[in-house]
Amino acid sequence: MFVSDVEKAASMNLMPSRSDLKAEAAPAAKPTIAMIEIDHVSQVFQTSSRQDHLALSDISLTVDDGAFVSILGPSGCGKSTLLYIVGGFVAPTRGTARMKGNPITGPGPDRGPVFQEFALFPWKSVLGNVMYGPRQQGVKAAEAEAQSRALIEMVGLKGFEHFYPKELSGGMKQRVALARTLAYHPAVLLMDEPFGALDAHTRTRLQNDLLNIWERDRKTVLFVTHSVEEAVFLSDKVVMMSRSPGRIRQIIDIDLPRPRRRTELLLDPRYQKYVVDIERMFDDAGDDELQP
Ligand SMILES: Nc1ncnc2c1ncn2[C@@H]1O[C@H](COP(=O)(O)OP(=O)(O)OP(=O)(O)O)[C@@H](O)[C@H]1O
Ligand SMILES: [Mg+2]
Repeated sequence: MFVSDVEKAASMNLMPSRSDLKAEAAPAAKPTIAMIEIDHVSQVFQTSSRQDHLALSDISLTVDDGAFVSILGPSGCGKSTLLYIVGGFVAPTRGTARMKGNPITGPGPDRGPVFQEFALFPWKSVLGNVMYGPRQQGVKAAEAEAQSRALIEMVGLKGFEHFYPKELSGGMKQRVALARTLAYHPAVLLMDEPFGALDAHTRTRLQNDLLNIWERDRKTVLFVTHSVEEAVFLSDKVVMMSRSPGRIRQIIDIDLPRPRRRTELLLDPRYQKYVVDIERMFDDAGDDELQP
């Protein structure tokens, strides 16, 4: 006689009875809305020679509130494009990007870009740059100044409030850019290789500072990088993309304890294994060559 698994379980008395179910019924779970949902997004660009170029192909990704998610992938695989779509600077050709359940139709103060090409205002001091956002949002000057000074201190630039961008190093400018974005309290930070142009020492310091800020505020962060170590060190999840047209190849949960200290992690075999495994996956895919 055919007995299904359910019947088998019931006959073995493994199934909860109706009354058990009632007694154990948990209060209805609150529906959780993802902070960012990228839902079957594709992006086709028209090049100047009028050819269609598929930059992103059917990307789906959910980023939870407060998560730190890094995107890794070969040059040209569409990482920046994906960030621009979430930022609302580019409308996807197909699919939808949503923020807290609402379709993203343009840029907004809830998503703060920290992109290298978003330069500081050269005619404003560090303080002027950081105060700009809150002032635009209608915060009174004295309050905006107090908040901005606190942020400048937090990113390690106390004493440089009246310096101008041309008087700062690359790392200092990145710190100002971060403070300027944090000043208008976005729920999500969109960071496109923010430390890519920095020397190794400054980069490490900024990674530590960013983690400290993140561990305190738990903002949602979408972080693009070329560095496997940086991605593993910072993230809860690493999204590995494949070569053009960009697809998600794999999403890896980084199960390392927090708060993370770089010097401790470097000695941690679990950290080393994540780094080596991810690097091997890229090597095996032979994804280094650029392809049109
Ligand atoms: N405005 C545009 N018009 C036409 N093609 C574009 C445009 N922007 C990007 N592309 C193309 O889309 C693809 C993805 O570009 P994108 O800048 O997103 O890559 P990326 O992963 O950020 O690369 P990198 O690591 O070098 O920064 C590339 O092939 C690029 O040539
Ligand atoms: Mg890019």
